[in-house]
Amino acid sequence: MSVSRRDEALVAQTSRREATKSGASTMPVTRELFDSVMVPCFAPAQFIPVRGEGSRVWDQHGRMYIDFASGVAVTALGHCHPAMIRALEEQAHQIWHVSNWFTNEPALRLAKRLVDATFAERVFFANSGAEANEAALKLARRYAHDRYGARRSRIVSTLNAFHGRTLFTVTAGGQAKYASGFGPNPAGFTHLPYNDVAALEAEFAAHADEICAVILEPMQGEGGMTPGKPEYLQAARRLCTEHGALLVLDEIQSGMGRTGALFSYMQKGIVPDILTSAKGLGGGFPIGAMLTTAEIASAFSVGVHGTTYGGNPLACAVAGAVFDVINTTEVLDGVKARHSLFIEGLRAINGRRRVFRDVRGEGVWIGCELDEAWRGKAAAVMNAAGEAGLLVLMAGADVVRLAPSLVISLDEILEGLARLETALNRALT
Ligand SMILES: Cc1ncc(COP(=O)(O)O)c(C=O)c1O
Repeated sequence: MSVSRRDEALVAQTSRREATKSGASTMPVTRELFDSVMVPCFAPAQFIPVRGEGSRVWDQHGRMYIDFASGVAVTALGHCHPAMIRALEEQAHQIWHVSNWFTNEPALRLAKRLVDATFAERVFFANSGAEANEAALKLARRYAHDRYGARRSRIVSTLNAFHGRTLFTVTAGGQAKYASGFGPNPAGFTHLPYNDVAALEAEFAAHADEICAVILEPMQGEGGMTPGKPEYLQAARRLCTEHGALLVLDEIQSGMGRTGALFSYMQKGIVPDILTSAKGLGGGFPIGAMLTTAEIASAFSVGVHGTTYGGNPLACAVAGAVFDVINTTEVLDGVKARHSLFIEGLRAINGRRRVFRDVRGEGVWIGCELDEAWRGKAAAVMNAAGEAGLLVLMAGADVVRLAPSLVISLDEILEGLARLETALNRALT
């Protein structure tokens, strides 16, 4: 080999395993830096969270916030849960990434758990909710294409739905504010009003031979915390079965225990053909999954779909630990108990001063629709909550959304509700 001394020395030097000094973790940063270095598609709060423990979060100045938001329904076990830390640390010493040219143990273990606990027989891992939905919609089209021909490509979705931000999923979403300006968008979507059985029946009556799938959230989360009526979800199931279309349930927000069942469909008297999961699945580590039957999965033969990171060992190890904690009767019943506590507390707030026209939801996933007098003020409440030391979400302009950890403590619930009342009093004047 005619390698120069210099090259040899460089190779030796850069293959050493000691940490190199980057200094990145100690670089002082402020919220102002966001506006000068980040793409402006987000408008984050003025404080920067730096540490979390359970349902408490601290900012750069040591101020504590009660977390009723969970990073948008993600940190299902709160922050820094010991079982997740253990799984991550153990896996960090094993192997981080191998790609799908190889399989890996944490991915297989997680897939087996999901298959054993649900209707599904096959799992595809992705990195986010949007990617899980992208896979689901591609699979539905491919399955129909292979079975019935190219004409069967129409996807029926609902107005006000949210399925992610890729071009395909944002088009499925049916909210113009997210989907416009990126055209041409993918064709072949019909958006119907949510919870409207007659509209769904009429669509199938007119176009059954074109429809490959219906995609629904069991409860519309981002779109306003609107629960799917059982009769509507069951009608969707019946129509899909009758006409050979696939029912895709987007359980990205509703799944992994958030409603008090492992997946929401388990309480609705329906079984989907394809289910998507993300958010709580990794409890804070990015991962998505698409679950389906063996027969439908066969339309994704080798090479038809793929991802570099999907099924990453670190993500799957953490998700496995999250799954083991959540999928117990104790934790799932605990979610229902917490629901009652939240509803009682929110009704008490409303009794002292009428601020909500409706409080709805399931498990630890609750929408508080503001009273007529305060329409459009959900963002103001969210900001005031931040000032009062509480993290909450909104679901459209009129709904304050709460999605705390599934294992939030009683003290944290009571402290958070007190802070919410302060925020409501400050914002709604
Ligand atoms: C129901 C639903 N589907 C899909 C998504 C997209 O997930 P992600 O942001 O991980 O791509 C979300 C995110 O809020 C969601 O709530």
